[in-house]
Amino acid sequence: MSSNIESVLVENRVFPPPEAVVKAARISGMAGYEALCREAEQDFEGFWARLARENVVWNKPFSRVLDESNAPFYKWFDDGELNASANCLDKHMGTPTENKAAIVFEADDGKVTTVTFKELLARVSQFANALKAQGIKKGDRVIVYMPMTIEGVIAMQACARIGATHSVVFGGFSAKALNERIIDAGAVAVITANFQMRGGKELPLKSIVDEGIAMGGCECIKSVLVFQRTATPCNMVAGRDKTFDEVLQGQSTTCAPEPVGAEHPLFILYTSGSTGKPKGVQHATGGYLLWANLTMQWTFDVKPSDVFWCTADIGWITGHTYVAYGPLAAGVTQVVFEGIPTYPNAGRFWQMIEKHKVTIFYTAPTAIRSLIKAADSDEKVHPKNWDLSSLRILGSVGEPINPEAWMWYHRHVGGERCPIVDTFWQTETGGHMITPLPGATPLVPGSCTLPLPGIMAAIVDEAGHDVPNGAGGILVVKRPWPSMIRTIWNDPERFKKSYFPEELKGLYLAGDGAVRSADRGYFRITGRIDDVLNVSGHRMGTMEIESALVAKTDLVAEAAVVGRPDDLTGEAICAFVVLKRPRPTGEEAKQIANELRNWVAKEIGPIAKPKDIRFGDNLPKTRSGKIMRRLLRSIAKGEAITQDTSTLENPAILEQLAQTN
Ligand code: PRX
Repeated sequence: MSSNIESVLVENRVFPPPEAVVKAARISGMAGYEALCREAEQDFEGFWARLARENVVWNKPFSRVLDESNAPFYKWFDDGELNASANCLDKHMGTPTENKAAIVFEADDGKVTTVTFKELLARVSQFANALKAQGIKKGDRVIVYMPMTIEGVIAMQACARIGATHSVVFGGFSAKALNERIIDAGAVAVITANFQMRGGKELPLKSIVDEGIAMGGCECIKSVLVFQRTATPCNMVAGRDKTFDEVLQGQSTTCAPEPVGAEHPLFILYTSGSTGKPKGVQHATGGYLLWANLTMQWTFDVKPSDVFWCTADIGWITGHTYVAYGPLAAGVTQVVFEGIPTYPNAGRFWQMIEKHKVTIFYTAPTAIRSLIKAADSDEKVHPKNWDLSSLRILGSVGEPINPEAWMWYHRHVGGERCPIVDTFWQTETGGHMITPLPGATPLVPGSCTLPLPGIMAAIVDEAGHDVPNGAGGILVVKRPWPSMIRTIWNDPERFKKSYFPEELKGLYLAGDGAVRSADRGYFRITGRIDDVLNVSGHRMGTMEIESALVAKTDLVAEAAVVGRPDDLTGEAICAFVVLKRPRPTGEEAKQIANELRNWVAKEIGPIAKPKDIRFGDNLPKTRSGKIMRRLLRSIAKGEAITQDTSTLENPAILEQLAQTN
C-alpha cells in the first residue's frame, strides 16, 4: 500500500476523454464544465433553481431556493412539494420509457427477472397500499432490512410514495445493530425477507429481526412484513408478522403518490462516526431527488439506450442514490444483482456485463482489487474471456483507487476506451461531489479530479484558511448544496459539532484529508482525518468496534482499535486488547482472538471483525492516561517506532504489542 501511495504522488499519466465521448456528452469538454461552474458562481441560487425546475417534477413549485436563516440547518426549495416515487416512476408514464425495462434482476443463482417501469409502478403502488393498510402513514419511520432484490427497491419506493421515511439497514448488520437503529429511528414497521441468498448460501434475515426486536425497547414496532425469498419457512409472530403475499392480497395496483414538502425526510441512513454510536444521517426529499437525477446525467452522462449497473447494496448510500432512486429518476434500464462477485467464480461481473450488455458499470476499488488477484491466479476468470465491448463508462466509489487498480480497470475492463469516473462523495453528501465528467475531464489515475458545478469544495488548514495547491489539508465545502445531510436524526447538536465545527466558521467538514495537484488543481483524497476507518469501502468507527470489544465484560478489560493499510481492503481493522486474565500466547491467543472476532460480528456485523487482534498487559498510555494511538498505528503497520516516546508511561509495552499471535 505504501508503494501505492508513492505511485499516486508521482502519478503523471493523463488520459483525455475520447473525442467521440466528448462530442456526444451532455457536458462537453472542459469549456462545458467551466461554463456551468461560472453560472453557479455568478448566480448561485439561480443556478440551483434552474436545475431544480428542469430535473424535478413538482406538485407545487417552490418560490424560495435556499433558506440560510437557521444555518447550518439549511433548507432547499422549502415551499415546493413533490413525491420522490412519482419522480422515479409516474413521470415516465405515457412516454417511450414506460415499457422499457426498469430493473433487470439477476439472482444469486443466475435466474433473471425483468420489470418494466410500468410494471414497477404497479408493484410499488400495490405495496404502498399494503403499507397504508397496516396503518403506516406519512412521517412514520420504516426499517428496510432486505436482500438485493426488486422487492428491496419496491419497499423503499413504496415508503417514499406514501411519505414514510425509510431507514435501510444493510443485511450484513447484526441483531444488536438493528435493535439500536429501530429504537433510535422510533420505527413503526420492519420490512424484511425470510432469508437472503449470497454465494449459494441461504442466510437468515427474519430470525435476526426477531432477535433484534426481542432485545427490548422496540415497542414502537407494530408490524413486520416478510418477503419470502426462499421456500424455507421462518418463524412468524401472530398479530405482528405478515408475508408480502398476505398484505398484497386484494390491494389495488394504483396509489396516488403523497405530495410532501421538499424538506420532508425521505430517509435516514445510519453511518459510522467517531464516537461509538452510529449517526442517523437524515436526507430531505427535494434536494436529494434533484441530485440523484442530475448526477446520473452529469457524471454518467446517461442516454436512453444505456444499461446501467451499480454493484452497491441498497443498504449503503451508493445503493440508495444509484440503485433505488437515480437510475429510475433518469429513466434508464439498470441491472440489480443479488449475489457476490466471486460466485460461482470471480468472472461473475464480466459474465454479467456481457450477458446484459451493460454500458455503464459502477463498482468499488476493493471489488476490482480482489478480481485482479483472482484473474492473476486463474486465467479463466480474467475479463479478457468475455465480450465487454458494450461498456462505455466505468465508475469507482467508496475509497481511493490506487493507480495500479485504476490502470487494470482501464485496460482490461474498459478496453482503454472507457473514461473512469472516480467519484468522491459520502453518505452525508447524498450524491457525487468531486468527480471527473466522462466527456470533459482529462483523467489522472488515483485522482477524483474536480468538484461538480455548484459544489464549492476546497482544502483548508485547521483554522479554515485556504491552502495552496500542492499542500495537503482538510477537505471542506464552502457553500451548502441541495442533497446535503439535513441533520442527524434525534441529535442536531451532534450534527453541528460533526460537520460545522466552530473553528471552520460555517464550512462543511467532510472528515477527509486531501491535496490538490500543483499543475491542474485536481483533488486527491488522502484518507479520513477522524477515527473512522474505510474497510472495503465500508465506513467503520474505531470507537464503535472498541465499544463492542469492551462489551464482552467477562473477558475484555480494555481495547484500542486502529486501521492499517491493506492491499486488498484498503484498510484493515487492528485491535489491541487487554484481557481480564493474564495475557494469552500461542494457541490460546488464537482461540481467544477468534472468540472476540465472532463477538464483534454479533455486536455489529461480520464487516466489523478485526483482521488482527493483539494482546498486551496494558496499552501504551501517556502519564495522564491517554492511549497513544499513533504508536499503535505504527505497530499495526509493522513499522519501527520513530516517534517520541518520552511521554509514554510504560515503554516496554510496545515490544509486547508488536508480537503477532
Ligand atoms: O473517506 C471517503 C471515502 O468514503 C467516505 C464516505 O464513506 P460513506 O459515507 O460510506 O460513502 C461511501 C460511498 C459514497 C469518504 O469520507 N470515499 C468515498 N469515495 C471516495 C472515497 N475516498 C477516495 N476516493 C473516492 N472516490
